[in-house]
Amino acid sequence: MQQPVRIAPSILSADFARLGEEVRAIDEAGADWIHIDVMDGHFVPNLTIGPGVVKALRPHTARTFDVHLMISPVEAFLAAFAECGADIITVHPEAGPHLHRTIQTIKSLGKKAGVSLNPATPAKMLDYVLEEIDLVLVMSVNPGFGGQSFIDSQLRKVEAIRKQIDKVGKAIDLEVDGGIDASNCRRAIDAGADVLVAGTATFTGGPSRYADNIKALRGQ
Ligand code: DX5
Ligand code: ZN
Repeated sequence: MQQPVRIAPSILSADFARLGEEVRAIDEAGADWIHIDVMDGHFVPNLTIGPGVVKALRPHTARTFDVHLMISPVEAFLAAFAECGADIITVHPEAGPHLHRTIQTIKSLGKKAGVSLNPATPAKMLDYVLEEIDLVLVMSVNPGFGGQSFIDSQLRKVEAIRKQIDKVGKAIDLEVDGGIDASNCRRAIDAGADVLVAGTATFTGGPSRYADNIKALRGQ
């Protein structure tokens, strides 16, 4: 069943020189989760945040840390991200040879497990793991950078996964990530998404705009 919409600002678009303050500002502005994009310069062509930064941010908010790992191999870093304060750990099926095992490892660390699908990765990837996981993340851009344009074809994938989740009957979050803004958030929600990641659309205009920016993404 589709759950109430939650907004997860991606701190990739925050001011990295003031990251703690930025996290507090989006918390106060109404962010439901904090989306943290971890990139390794290998699985994706960019380098971002490691466990040390996540640990440093942890005291700044009590909100859910939604950690999106775009690193390969991923297995060796799961414990580090669990220990530094991640609540949800999301991996890509292409980031390691044994997705099912990776999911079990995340759960054994006491964290929620998510699976993220790149734009070309079919929903079928979920067939034998969906019942095991807490979240599906549909990438609506190719992972690596903020500020890219939303890829419309991913709405069909969201619709298909919404049906699969409803068949399972568990409260599995369906998150969309990439190019989300006030002009397309309603379409993502109508397709069945219940968590929207937004980097550029949250942080545009600076701290005085965060609350309005987040509100505009709820699609009401
Ligand atoms: C892209 C990241 C996204 C990105 C979203 O690889 O996974 O979370 O930061 O940024 P916007 O909302 O600017 O597309
Ligand atoms: Zn992300």
